[in-house]
Amino acid sequence: MEFPGSHILSVTQFNREDVEKVFSVADSMRPYAKRERLTKVLDGAILGNMFFEPSTRTRVSFGCAFNLLGGHVRETTDVKTSSITKGESLYDTARVISGYSDVIVMRHPQAGSVEEFARASRVPVINGGDGPNEHPSQALLDLYTIKKELAGQERGIEGMKIAMVGDLKHGRTVHSLSQLLLQYDNVELTLISPQELRMPAEIVTTLAERGHRVVETEDMESGLAGNDIVYLTRIQEERFTNRMEADIYRGRFRLNQAVYTRYCQPKTVIMHPLPRDSRAEANELDNDLNQNPGLAIFRQTDNGVLIRMALFALILDVVHTIDHTSSDVGWYTDRRFKFV
Ligand code: CP
Repeated sequence: MEFPGSHILSVTQFNREDVEKVFSVADSMRPYAKRERLTKVLDGAILGNMFFEPSTRTRVSFGCAFNLLGGHVRETTDVKTSSITKGESLYDTARVISGYSDVIVMRHPQAGSVEEFARASRVPVINGGDGPNEHPSQALLDLYTIKKELAGQERGIEGMKIAMVGDLKHGRTVHSLSQLLLQYDNVELTLISPQELRMPAEIVTTLAERGHRVVETEDMESGLAGNDIVYLTRIQEERFTNRMEADIYRGRFRLNQAVYTRYCQPKTVIMHPLPRDSRAEANELDNDLNQNPGLAIFRQTDNGVLIRMALFALILDVVHTIDHTSSDVGWYTDRRFKFV
């Protein structure tokens, strides 16, 4: 893939080499994310952070990533405050915002909307989640996290066993992560969901054709056994016609410390794209796992900044101009409060 100037719309754009390139650049971003080094490589550049659907992590971490590279962020956080509510088309919005920005991140509730927006944009567009379809930067940060977690166990992605649990029909993060795994060999996937919320058949077929072993089940206990990674997802209430319909499935699959101890391996890594639904009736990932060393959910969110910095550096073609030898951390780093 030719990164400079490219839109990032789907994980299907990436081959194995591209994924490893993103991971390698993400590694080099760590000192900047930790404020051990400063860079102003994107000074003067503007990110249009256009979110037409709720978000905490994706919106804020893309913004932080751009700021950490020295750029500025302008954002829409709510469709109600956007002129889309006055009937403005995605085409017009894209023409306007791409005149104000050097790169755009967009989230929108409709599958395919970000691609439509990108066709009208004059600058690169990154898909921050288009309905139930895809969330490519989340998949990259998830796979990067998996790589790091398994490396800590002297293991690699190839040969790993992963269980994906929950609403696999509507969960864009599992759609993107599964398809990114097509770049690797010999992965075993156990897909645990209610019958009605199964992973789209075309993704399951593609995984099997690629030679991965895929098992679909509704039985969480047997499905959890033997996995290196357990990746939980929320019931995507916003994709159902009403809350009552989502309630049918809420709370069906819960992971807590007792279930983990009984059914998972001692070193099983627990992941979730977040937000987790912590309401009593859902509680898919219990707070009693918060001290479990295998809980990687906040390592995922930290890694999100590195991956998003890497994507900006690659598509805005500044990756080779960042001075990785500089130790000039500036006045701010010296004066930061140190929290424990
Ligand atoms: N993982 C994720 O997309 O989180 P947000 O919805 O908070 O951005």
